[in-house]
Amino acid sequence: NVLILDFGSQYTQLIARRVRELNIYCEIHPYHKIPEDLSSFKAVILSGSPFSVRAEEPPHPDLSNIRGKKPLLAVCYGAQYLAHFNGGKVEPSETREYGRANLSYIKENEALLAEIPTQSQVWMSHSDTIKQLPEGGICIASTHDVENAAYRIEGEETYAIQFHPEVYHSTDGKQLLENFLINIAGVEAKWTPGAFVDLTVEELKQKIGNDKVVLGLSGGVDSTVAAMLLHKAIGDKLYCIFVNNGLLRKNEFTDVLAQYKDMGLNVKGVDASKRFLDALAGVSDPEQKRKAIGRVFIEVFDDEAHKIKDVTYLAQGTIYPDVIESVSVNGPSVTIKSHHNVGGLPDFMKLKIVEPLRMLFKDEVRRVGAEIGIAKQLLGRHPFPGPGLAIRILGDITAEKVRILQEVDAIFIEGLREWDLYDKVWQAGAILLPINSVGVMGDERTYEQVVALRAVESTDGMTADWVNLPYEFLQKTSNKIINRVKGVNRVVYDISSKPPATIEWE
Ligand code: XMP
Repeated sequence: NVLILDFGSQYTQLIARRVRELNIYCEIHPYHKIPEDLSSFKAVILSGSPFSVRAEEPPHPDLSNIRGKKPLLAVCYGAQYLAHFNGGKVEPSETREYGRANLSYIKENEALLAEIPTQSQVWMSHSDTIKQLPEGGICIASTHDVENAAYRIEGEETYAIQFHPEVYHSTDGKQLLENFLINIAGVEAKWTPGAFVDLTVEELKQKIGNDKVVLGLSGGVDSTVAAMLLHKAIGDKLYCIFVNNGLLRKNEFTDVLAQYKDMGLNVKGVDASKRFLDALAGVSDPEQKRKAIGRVFIEVFDDEAHKIKDVTYLAQGTIYPDVIESVSVNGPSVTIKSHHNVGGLPDFMKLKIVEPLRMLFKDEVRRVGAEIGIAKQLLGRHPFPGPGLAIRILGDITAEKVRILQEVDAIFIEGLREWDLYDKVWQAGAILLPINSVGVMGDERTYEQVVALRAVESTDGMTADWVNLPYEFLQKTSNKIINRVKGVNRVVYDISSKPPATIEWE
């Protein structure tokens, strides 16, 4: 187990991901909330930070229980922090040091830098530089511009590096982390999906015992994997509820419900389409749509949960990025609980919470899903927003508009599958625009709706770029849509990146 102390760097989560890629478990904690019991941690990593050690009140945690007692790797701000407060000197760099650099000097026989060639590319992102090392410091690597690019402290297992080993552009970053964690700290690489499944199922059994658990399935990867883990642990004492809000893709409700049943889940499908559409009637503001859908979902779910007698737990598919108490963001991100103040909580939200995926990143959820035999098709599904097609119909929503968009979307998505493009795209869908345009069909002028197609590549949804789909594919898809979907006479393709656009149109 590895402890990562977060000083607020945008890269902290990446450090955790790289460590997990080495099959080593790690946890991120804010620098000002160091866990009291450190016995389970075999090594500690200090992250970078947007702060400067020369600021008036720089992050300044007490490391006396860590320094010299556990192997320690300090990255960027961490490296400056160790220097600044221990007799070294940190000054503003004459030139700001961002981006690519190459190691020009590597001290011989240094465990941290084993197997890393000189000239190895490293990624820098700092405006301060370490001019003088702290007491006992020995420089072990330099770049052309940065003399103290890496150092260690004599007589301790304390290492510090100015560059970021966690970013992809530091080509030997993974090797460096492996050197530190496995060779120096002696951490064992035992964190595999199989080990996670065994451990989690056992923990869930212990925790839940004979109690009942209710869980809302969405058709997405997270809730499905969470359900299957719980199912392994407690079988039919897991009650799943899958709500059709009427804003899902064409046939999605029946298809996915059937898949869930095949997987052995105790699942109840609830078709509440009308309730959602009624609540959305006349609403065109995107945030109002989201609120209305959230509200109705809670009502429907609460009604259903009440039909199950003596439930003790509410299970959620929360994953690690939702949980991490990031220093830069100030506090944990919102989970379903915090949308509501305690007085007005629906009954099901007063249940005890169980979140089997709360320590996993998205890619790990997929690996765990594959490990427990969830079909590849289900695991590889594109992300789909909770409010569904409601935020892809610009303006107000009617049953007819939903029908039109479902048809268009189905043609587009089926086409992507047929052309073997589906897995090459991170997310795709169609948007119904609130305008009509002139067309001509046969001898008649038409005045019908416009749809936009959107396909993006991304890794996390934070940034995205449009996909260069083959013209021939676009041409065939456009033809099919206009010929088959009554009410649409024009198809356009969205070629905007995020930023400055977003993936969804609302
Ligand atoms: P944007 O449009 O912000 O979308 O670039 C980024 C990712 O988030 C999804 N998204 C949502 N998901 N509820 C959700 O559950 C929402 O209200 C929502 N809005 C956007 C979007 O589909 C993309 O994957």
